[in-house]
Amino acid sequence: MTRTASLNAVRRRVERLRAKIRRHDRLYYVLDRPTISDAQYDRLFAELTRLEAEYPRLVTPDSPTKRVAGGAVPSFPTVRHLAPMLSLESVTDPDAVRRFDERVRKTVGGSRLQYMLEPKFDGLSLEVVYRDGALDRASTRGDGEHGEGVTENVKTIRAVPLRLDDASHRVPRLLSVRGEAVMRTEDFRALNARLERDGQAPFANPRNAAAGSIRQLDARISAERRLQVFFYDILHIEGGPRLTDDASVLQAFAGWGLVTSPRARLCEKPDEIFTYHREMERLREALGYEIDGIVLKLNDLGARQRLRATGRHPRWALAFKFTPREEQTVIEQIVVQVGRTGVLTPVAVLRPVGIGGVTVARATLHNREEIARKDLRVGDAVRVIRAGDVIPEIVERLPRSGARHSRPFSMPRRCPECHTKVVREGPFDRCPNGLACPAQLKRAIAHFGSRDALDIRGLGAETVDALVSSGLVRSVADLFTLRARDLVKLERFADLSAANLLQAIDKARRTTLWRFLHALGIPSVGVQTARDLAEHFGSLDAIRSAGEAEIEKVSGVGPIVAHEVAEFFRQPGNLRAIDLCRRRGVALAEAAPRPRGPLAGKVVVFTGGLESMSREEAEELARARGARTARSVGAHTDLVVAGTEPGSKYDKARALGVRVIDERAFRKLSGAR
Ligand code: IVH
Repeated sequence: MTRTASLNAVRRRVERLRAKIRRHDRLYYVLDRPTISDAQYDRLFAELTRLEAEYPRLVTPDSPTKRVAGGAVPSFPTVRHLAPMLSLESVTDPDAVRRFDERVRKTVGGSRLQYMLEPKFDGLSLEVVYRDGALDRASTRGDGEHGEGVTENVKTIRAVPLRLDDASHRVPRLLSVRGEAVMRTEDFRALNARLERDGQAPFANPRNAAAGSIRQLDARISAERRLQVFFYDILHIEGGPRLTDDASVLQAFAGWGLVTSPRARLCEKPDEIFTYHREMERLREALGYEIDGIVLKLNDLGARQRLRATGRHPRWALAFKFTPREEQTVIEQIVVQVGRTGVLTPVAVLRPVGIGGVTVARATLHNREEIARKDLRVGDAVRVIRAGDVIPEIVERLPRSGARHSRPFSMPRRCPECHTKVVREGPFDRCPNGLACPAQLKRAIAHFGSRDALDIRGLGAETVDALVSSGLVRSVADLFTLRARDLVKLERFADLSAANLLQAIDKARRTTLWRFLHALGIPSVGVQTARDLAEHFGSLDAIRSAGEAEIEKVSGVGPIVAHEVAEFFRQPGNLRAIDLCRRRGVALAEAAPRPRGPLAGKVVVFTGGLESMSREEAEELARARGARTARSVGAHTDLVVAGTEPGSKYDKARALGVRVIDERAFRKLSGAR
């Protein structure tokens, strides 16, 4: 082999290694979904490091090896909890609950025994430590003794106070509390919709989503995923008030600004446990977050001491779980969907079956390996649960009877939409054809016009389908060349709807920088990041010409996001599409300088109905005046706008001493006419 030929071979290998490492970085750090082991990853990295040392001329500044050299890839330190974080013994059988109660009564004497009843939150258990009232450190449960330090990410959770309120209860010198981070079902659905729109695999349930968000190395991404935290236990306390029962613990928590369950209830008779269990099971759907049972705890802290623990479980508490919702049905077909970034997702089409009041007809099968692991085939009878009671999941197949059954499913080798050969990426299959693949193009265009992007009304999935299939739209920029006479030729369009769509597209020409940035569909760039980039750089040209290092300076943007952004603006195809949009009339109102005025920098929450505008409009207005809007009231809330029939947020605001104003005052403050 000649020297150039062998150098070329090395260069190709180096490039392939870099691409692989970047992909696995993304799977690991951004998606929290690694597909290779750490050892395999290390081998790739070591090979690249070695080749770069051997062939210095092949080193580029954007090589993954450079990032580590800069020390920018963070990881979570191991943290020892101030006291072991025990787990609960869990039962579903009412008799086991009675036996637990008898045992407790025998040991501590039964006459005036009380239990604190609480929902059992289905989330991620956290330890949060406050020193002299200030949030010092937060960690995941880990093995119960040691967890991962996730302080920075927990600090982004608005529901967790950074400083304890000392107005009603003296603040301890040292306080370690335990709580559960959960993602609201509504936020979970929105997050998954966004992930899918971005071509990323969705989370299986809200618990995984909450855990994934907290165990996210880019604090910006955690911040974008709103979480709620309910606190329920003290792990360690030094100083502060003398607390002798759980009821006063919860009261102290509320005083300090630590959110507790509004459903906690004290009970005396064992029967009340069963009533509470039934009540919570009925309430389950309406709660807005996932619970999977109830927890009963001895109220008297002194009595708890006497009962102590058996190994990992305290003897003074019990989890009384709900029976999971599950049904059997049959896989009628397995279809394959192509996401926005080309990932092929197999989906089981099920014989429709009702589970807990919802008809389930489809279940995601995630990827090739998942199907193989469960050995699922068309015609199989399967057990389906609504995992976390949201997303249907196939738990397992039932034994096959008879000799005849279908052949194992295999992922297509070619993209079902454009017939390009798919590439394998760990357990995933991806169509590499990009926007030349109609499925990916359709998703990209739908995203471009979606509500948090250019907000083009009337550009729904079916319309996008018709526009792309007819060949009228081959890139996002083509939207701006559509004419009424072309549209009316399509089956979907009558004169009126064509005119409406064109009007909506025309309106979208005047948009804002962040909306346009978000619309471009840059991987990992959600609404919040798009807003931050827009605010920091002020113009598209500034972002376009910024290097990775400069982008990383944007508050909250980590190295991974910075890399994605820079990479996006390096692709000639992307730049062409942007230029075409501009030539076809897209004009960006560049981000205004940081607003001043009474709302600038304030966290504002709305509750109740507004009369002169919708909730969305009011939030938009507040943000335009420099406020940040939030959905729940917490220690960081600056202002609550209460409309008609305000809800519990109003009471909470009052309790926390947050300023509350009415709609008129809000209009005045925000300068609305
Ligand atoms: S009390 C054992 N109360 O359920 C120490 N735990 O193993 C006291 N959990 O990981 C726990 N909701 O984190 C308690 N209202 C609640 C809870 C709760 C959820 C978690 C706990 C633990 C798991 C059971």
